[in-house]
Amino acid sequence: MENHVSRWSNVQTVPESHVFPLEIRPGNEQIPLCKTIPIIDLENYEPNSENLDSIHKIIKASQEYGFFQVTNHGVSEDVINEAVKVLEELFNMPIDEISKEANENGFVYMGSTSFATKGAHLWRDNIKHPCHPLELSMQNWPQKPKRYRDVMEAYIVEIKRLSLRLLEMISQGLGLEKGYLGGMSQVQFMTASNYPICPDPSLTLGLLKHFDHSLITILYQGNGKGLQVLKDGKWIGVEVVPNAFVVNIGTQVEIISNWKLTSAAHRVVTNKEEARTSITTFINPNPDCVIEPAKLFVDDVTPPLYQPLSFKDFVNVSKPFGPFTDVVQNGVLPNINA
Ligand code: OGA
Ligand code: NI
Repeated sequence: MENHVSRWSNVQTVPESHVFPLEIRPGNEQIPLCKTIPIIDLENYEPNSENLDSIHKIIKASQEYGFFQVTNHGVSEDVINEAVKVLEELFNMPIDEISKEANENGFVYMGSTSFATKGAHLWRDNIKHPCHPLELSMQNWPQKPKRYRDVMEAYIVEIKRLSLRLLEMISQGLGLEKGYLGGMSQVQFMTASNYPICPDPSLTLGLLKHFDHSLITILYQGNGKGLQVLKDGKWIGVEVVPNAFVVNIGTQVEIISNWKLTSAAHRVVTNKEEARTSITTFINPNPDCVIEPAKLFVDDVTPPLYQPLSFKDFVNVSKPFGPFTDVVQNGVLPNINA
């Protein structure tokens, strides 16, 4: 069978290779759509203004859920729609052509069966490439579809602007000096996933439970549902809001805030009704940046909950889906050098 799950529109049953073990698969439990993850309208927000309402909402959401959504965020609808369109064209290209492109240009393209994790393959095809520094990294992006580089460049430029705005709001909300988070940030990676319809979503996963090792992540989740967040030990579904971005707190901001803000585990489930294309941009610290709790959050009675570590080392020692991230979630980093 074709390596790429996007080509499986006629598959009637889930192949054994894509059936996750019982304890990992979503099963038939009805997961409620969460109506309380805040949707924050950024239109009325003026940087450093007296109107702190949006900032308070962002901080509260980042404490309670580690997730929020933003609307009127300044990224034009055209830019978003074009990005989705060009990615869908890419996912529809003949596999040989994408593989050739990936080899020649050096980006990562993973058809569903390229790798297995926790005993099965994910129900998605995926492209990933660096975005920083922009001009240089673009040399590693696909050259087909022809418009790809222009369209994605416009998208990344706007995401960069939005990310700086959001990081400024978070810095301000936490009481950190201006530029504390924005100054260390870069739009490091873009990864886009195509989650095709699945004949039996109870058996499969689009993406396993994980934490993002970013400062923040900005996700365009397209028009299809599928993203779920772990809240108080229970999965909740994230609403699809047209033209909104889902923003989540990554482990790095959790560490800097000394767990004042939390990064939540999340996963993607599949569905029978419609395919979904999502675009994830990871706003990461510069690799050499040492990440540690800001002095503001540490005193005689509040010890640092995490040890200092350069982001580069953090990423190298952490296992994206391993128990390590669960430990981070509990506010304690193990002695990783042991
Ligand atoms: C990710 C992620 C969610 C999605 O790429 O880290 O969580 O909906 N993506 O694709
Ligand atoms: Ni994620």
